[in-house]
Formats: sequence, C-alpha cells, structure tokens
Amino acid sequence: MPTAWSPSSPNRVIRADNLEILPSLPEGAFTLIYLDPPFNTGRKQNRRTTTSVRVLPASEAPSEAGPGSVPRNGVPVTSPRAGGLAASGTITGFKGQLYERIKGDLLGYDDQFEDYWAFLEPRLIEAWRLLAEDGTLYLHLDYREAHYAKVLLDALFGRDCFLNELIWAYDYGAKSKNRWPTKHDTILVYVKNPQHYYFDSTTVDREPYMAPGLVTPEKVARGKLPTDVWWHTIVSPTGKEKTGYPTQKPVGILRRMIQASSREGDWVLDFFAGSGTTGAVAESLGRRFLLIDQNPESIQVMRTRFAALPEVEFLDAS
Ligand SMILES: C[S@@+](CC[C@H](N)C(=O)[O-])C[C@H]1O[C@@H](n2cnc3c(N)ncnc32)[C@H](O)[C@@H]1O
Repeated sequence: MPTAWSPSSPNRVIRADNLEILPSLPEGAFTLIYLDPPFNTGRKQNRRTTTSVRVLPASEAPSEAGPGSVPRNGVPVTSPRAGGLAASGTITGFKGQLYERIKGDLLGYDDQFEDYWAFLEPRLIEAWRLLAEDGTLYLHLDYREAHYAKVLLDALFGRDCFLNELIWAYDYGAKSKNRWPTKHDTILVYVKNPQHYYFDSTTVDREPYMAPGLVTPEKVARGKLPTDVWWHTIVSPTGKEKTGYPTQKPVGILRRMIQASSREGDWVLDFFAGSGTTGAVAESLGRRFLLIDQNPESIQVMRTRFAALPEVEFLDAS
C-alpha cells in the first residue's frame, strides 16, 4: 500500500499507529498541527531511575555549537536554535541537558504521567520536525496533564516558542459537589519560530460582547475578537454535528485555530484524528489535510463524514 506523502497529494486519511508514519513525512511541510491525544495512553513501563544531568551555569554554557559537536553529558549536540529542538528533531546541547534534567525531576513524581510522556514525547518531537518555519502546534490536553506538559514543552521546544494557553470552557454534564466542577480543557500553543510565525486574528469569527451595554452599537454589531478563554458548547449529543465518535471536538473550536494559524492552501496535520473534525474544518476553509488514526471506528466515521467531499484518499498502513 503506497503511503508516500508529498504536498501535491490529495487530502488523505491513513489508518496506522502515527509513529509508524510520521518519520516518513517531509520536514517543515505543515503550517498547523492540531493534536488531541487520548489521556494517559502510555504502556505501563518499568519505573526508570531518573538521571540528574549537570546543568552548566550560564557563564559556562556554550552559546553556539555547530553540527556534529561532541556530545556533552550524553546528550547529542546538533545545530542549535532558540528553542530546545534542532531542525532534525534532536534535542540540542544546552537546552537538551536542561530538558533531560527537568524531565527526570518532574516525571519522578507521577508514574502515570511518566508513561504518558513516554508515549507523547517521540510524537511531539516528530510534530516539531514536521512544522513549517512559520507553523503552529495546538496541543489539546485536559487539566490532569496540562501543567506537567507545559513545563516539559517549555524545556523541550523553548519557552520563547510558547504562544498561548487556551482555555476551552464548557458547561455540560454532572457537576461535582466536593470541588469546583472541572469544565474546561487546556490547549497549549507553540510556534516553531517566535520571530516568524503566521497568525491572523482578523480572519477569526468574532463573538458577542459579554456586556454589550458597555460598548457602542457598532462594536456590538461587529462582535469582539476571542481572547484566550473560549466559551463553547461541547458537541451536542442530539445536534447535527454529532458523528457518534465519543471524543469528538466541536467544529467551532477547530475553526478558530485553523482560521488564525493557516492560510488557504496550507497543509494541516492531525495524527490523533478521531472523528476527523480537523479535516472537516480544514476543508471547509480551503486548507488541505492529512489525518492519521489507528482505530478502525475512527476511519469508518471519517469515511461517512467525508463522503461528500470531492477527493479524499483513504489508506490503510496498519
Ligand atoms: C481524543 S481522540 C481525538 C478526537 C478528535 N480530536 C475529534 O475531534 O474527533 C484521540 C484519538 O487518537 C487515536 N490514537 C491513539 N493512539 C494513537 C496512535 N498511536 N496512532 C494513531 N492514532 C492514535 C485514538 O484512536 C483516538 O481516535
């Protein structure tokens, strides 16, 4: 089964373990990558002893290290960039050491997150490699994992590449009486190059003012730009958007990301595709998409969802 992908491929859905496919995709090909990984999927692994790596004080830290430099403290050194990852996807020398130390310290606290990060880390490194120079990664997490992930991602990708923490707030379902009911997800947004990323909020659907009496009628008519807190209902169990896939995310959430962080004709990648919301929205906005999911039910849902679209190629690489 041919799975070779290039920017001249049609919109495509692949059934596979994403890590089998990602290394074959060309570097820098995607302007936007949206990832909504399942919570806590990592295989249970033997607890590893954490290695604390010596971090050089700033005065000793190398400011530059050319490709092929000698590994320091076991961390391969490749061409450096402001973030933690080199273009090749390798963790760079100084930041790499810092990342390894933070990872060692942080993961030691929580076995479950350690397993989860072992699952996520190689996929995030691939995501970084695949992002275009002006590209943006949206990583959708829940409150149990968002904070560990933020610390690790800052160290891995570079704190200066962190763009936003988006809060998607909804109000649906049972409410705990023992604590504040948890009714939000967190979406961490990182750019490949903080000096050169694409973002155009003028193309984003505007929303009603919360206090319309405080602004002019013209402003009320125009609506306001969304902030980093997005109030949006979940996919209604009875609405027409519903595909039946249990973890389906709303079109309205994906629309904002894709409108702001990509242009018509750009490639959008989602390798935890589920019901294919990313593909449906990308296509409706004139972007192109590559979706990967390993679950046959997801592929079936996407076949139905995309049945009316002109050209979507389905491949099975599993
Ligand atoms: C939370 S769901 C994504 C839902 C999606 N955002 C939507 O709107 O429908 C996560 C998806 O990741 C898929 N998945 C988990 N591990 C995977 C892997 N290693 N390779 C490919 N897909 C995977 C699951 O089958 C599931 O469909």
